[in-house]
Amino acid sequence: MQATAQAQPNVALIKYWGKLDPARNLPATGSLSVTLDALWTRTRVAFDPTLTTDRFSLNGREDADGLGRVSQCLDRLRRLADVPQYAVVESCNNFPTGAGLASSASGFAALVAAAAHALGLALDPPALSRLARRSSGSAARSVFGGFVLLPAAVSPEDDVPAEPLLDEHAWPLEVVVAVTAQTSKTIGSTEGMRRTADTSAFYEAWVSSNGPDLSEARGAVMSRDFEALTSVSERSCLKMHGLMLSADPGLVYWNGATVECIHRIRELRRRGTGVFFTLDAGPQVKAVCLPGSTEEVSRALADTPGVMDVMVSRLGRGVHLAETP
Ligand code: DP6
Repeated sequence: MQATAQAQPNVALIKYWGKLDPARNLPATGSLSVTLDALWTRTRVAFDPTLTTDRFSLNGREDADGLGRVSQCLDRLRRLADVPQYAVVESCNNFPTGAGLASSASGFAALVAAAAHALGLALDPPALSRLARRSSGSAARSVFGGFVLLPAAVSPEDDVPAEPLLDEHAWPLEVVVAVTAQTSKTIGSTEGMRRTADTSAFYEAWVSSNGPDLSEARGAVMSRDFEALTSVSERSCLKMHGLMLSADPGLVYWNGATVECIHRIRELRRRGTGVFFTLDAGPQVKAVCLPGSTEEVSRALADTPGVMDVMVSRLGRGVHLAETP
């Protein structure tokens, strides 16, 4: 009744921001991401008949704030397995939590895979992906490695899973993460999406322009066209941040160093370096690089005022079972 799984965060190039149905956590926009290799979450789940409640720790500390979402996720798996037992969940990240590095993506992908295995449920990757999506939309994508697509739901019955497009070896891009803040973000994605949908005058335009962006990006990935992927990815990212700024009150996830990094990356590109940026609901900058550009990009970002740290990652695999420590 116990298992450990490892999942890696993913970085969306075409963004999920908005829900068709918040109750089922159905995405209103389709997204396309790359799964990373160097960053990971490892989660051990152990069901125990003597427990009277679930217990959750993150990096060795009881996490009362995170427990509710973890228990809701476990409830879905308990119902499927028809097992009423509570569980101890011990999770560990090798990167800062809650600062826009997609810890909920790797966290829920690892949790679902470990809990399903511990309960003896034989679920295929799409079933794991749907369950992960119920807890966090981006987690659906971390079930798979390499380039991954999560389509928009078209109706409330459309229980969409993510699908793999190209594996991590098929087009070996690399990602440099520039860490510009180490504190947790103030407004989480779930609340930020709700506020944006409720208050932004641009929300409908954001949703309706997503389909063409997604197919353009899919085409660029399938034909390994870095230039085409550069322009559609930066467009989707800046469009999402424009939308966030237009919410009421506006959501400003950037700091000064974030903006410096954007300019630095565009300057490198003007000089011929294969790189583009993307940013999520936090101030960290992710630079997606052609393999030959990674070193130069990582040196340039490390040297940008306000950057505290840079992490370099290849593309990685999807969720998998790991040794219990
Ligand atoms: C900006 O998956 O964290 O990173 O489904 O409410 O848990 P919930 O949201 P979440 O949102 C991710 C938003 C994003 C873009 C993306 O990853 O596609």
